[in-house]
Amino acid sequence: MNRILASVLIVASLVFATLGNATYAQTTAKGAKVASSPASPLKLSLPVKEGSVRFAVIGDTGSGSDKQRQVADEMVQYRSVFPFDFVLMMGDNLYGSESAKDFQTKFSDVYKQLLDNNVKFYATLGNHDLPIQVNYQNFNMNGKEYYRFKKGNIAFYSLNSNYMDKKQVQWLETELAKDTSDWKIAFFHHPPYSSAAAHGSDEQLREVLEPIFVKYGMNVVLTGHDHVYERIKPQKGIYYFVSGAGGRLRTGDVKSSPFTEKSFDRDMHFMLWEAVGNNLYFQAISRTGETVDSGVIAKQKTK
Ligand SMILES: [Fe+2]
Repeated sequence: MNRILASVLIVASLVFATLGNATYAQTTAKGAKVASSPASPLKLSLPVKEGSVRFAVIGDTGSGSDKQRQVADEMVQYRSVFPFDFVLMMGDNLYGSESAKDFQTKFSDVYKQLLDNNVKFYATLGNHDLPIQVNYQNFNMNGKEYYRFKKGNIAFYSLNSNYMDKKQVQWLETELAKDTSDWKIAFFHHPPYSSAAAHGSDEQLREVLEPIFVKYGMNVVLTGHDHVYERIKPQKGIYYFVSGAGGRLRTGDVKSSPFTEKSFDRDMHFMLWEAVGNNLYFQAISRTGETVDSGVIAKQKTK
């Protein structure tokens, strides 16, 4: 009797799983495989306006772990309702060795479905990354440790926060001085503001960069390094984020701090971003599909 009941339950759960996946498959991006992890309902907090600039953010990904893959799967699922074109990487793109095989197991295999759908990745170098990464085609760094690129009305500045030397600072100032883009977003590895215990704020870096960001109207700064999510209360009019748990996590690492607006350190996550005119929308989503933060940034008034 018990055996019969068990069989019924197994069949029922298989049917349920199949139905669940079938429903999920309808919302999956063209050509994308259905994720093997359980489907969570997709809850989008972004407007998905025609012609908007849409992108994702991941940080500290390069572990090659199952959980990194689960975050990637969740990104694929969300891309079916939020078709983003590119992904910013906050550094620590490859932990440990960096052989051709590592580029595959810790990056291109993990994000295969996105790469196959022509999603472009733009990397920055973390403290675990060798400079050779600048020549890896899929990171779109074009041989440069720091670089600028434009998407619609947004200028992106990828900096190398491992070595914030005079040359790089001068380059940044020169570029910003002539930049008339509606939005300016910087991304690099070490956070000028962070409430995480493991690393916390890089105050030296803040001292160098913050005056430049203020002077030239940087709108948003995206970073990693601490394996958590944190949204910082605007500092001198600038919005700082820590998104360093795309492939590694430090559970419970965020300590209370006067500049924390919102934090999440219970699971890994990624972010989605959308620029619509003078508004910049964001959503942080956990590995299991939980929305852990969302909001909109109205373009700051620049001097
Ligand atoms: Fe790091």
